Amino acid sequence: MRELTTRVGGFLFLALIFAVFSGCKNEPDPIIDDTIIVSDVCYEDTVYFQNDILPMLSSTCGTAGCHNIGTAKKGVVLIDYLSVMRTGGINTGNPASSDIYEAVIGSDERMPPSPKPQWTDLQKNLLLTWISQGAKNNKCLNLPYCDTTNITYTASVLPIFEKYCYPCHSGLNPAYNLDLSNFAQLSAFIENGVLVGAINREPGYYPMPKGSDPLTRCEIRTIEIWIENGTPTN
Ligand code: HEC
Repeated sequence: MRELTTRVGGFLFLALIFAVFSGCKNEPDPIIDDTIIVSDVCYEDTVYFQNDILPMLSSTCGTAGCHNIGTAKKGVVLIDYLSVMRTGGINTGNPASSDIYEAVIGSDERMPPSPKPQWTDLQKNLLLTWISQGAKNNKCLNLPYCDTTNITYTASVLPIFEKYCYPCHSGLNPAYNLDLSNFAQLSAFIENGVLVGAINREPGYYPMPKGSDPLTRCEIRTIEIWIENGTPTN
């Protein structure tokens, strides 16, 4: 039995070698498995395609005139896992030489092109780490290190707005005429879903906070849970 297993194993090994060497150049792209790998827990040292990478790519690259399906500049489409894996030049063996990574760190022809804001160092590092970790189609759900049970407006949510949003969205001339310290305006942007779309950097929304690193998962979850709880004002 053992010998049989060894023989079968040997055969499979030869078949694999054959498959590798006969890999034909004219063949269509290899089949990419795009099943989402869902983890119940968000580990702090893991970068998740669905949580971290896709929102950045689709909001700053996969847009009309750039790398959506309609435009597909230089054949590159960056709107979902399959398009990224097929056209983004991802190289898990040498992550830093992946095309999209080289593009976002590029100095002469950097992406996104000016005057669009350049990716921050945090965003570039997230992309590089995700590729180094195998460029998987992964997603996570829960934040064990984040207090998601005692959320109030004054102690949990307001400090986030004060730190990351009020510099532009309060005072005499708030950006976008949106004064987030005005509860009626804040509520309107919560009800139409735009605030959550913007902080999650979903396609179709302006990514916020503008021009700087995304909020952390915990900060985003804090705001979302406060909204799910019915935006209590205490
Ligand atoms: C550096 C200034 C700046 C900061 C910081 C900033 N915003 Fe904005 N925000 C803008 C500008 C400018 C716009 C108009 C769209 C644009 O030009 O990107 C805008 C638009 C928005 C919109 C409308 C988005 C849409 O798609 O219609 C929302 C909601 C928003 N901001 C929320 C926030 C929140 C929440 C924060 C903090 C987490 C924040 N902003 C931080 C400048 C800023």
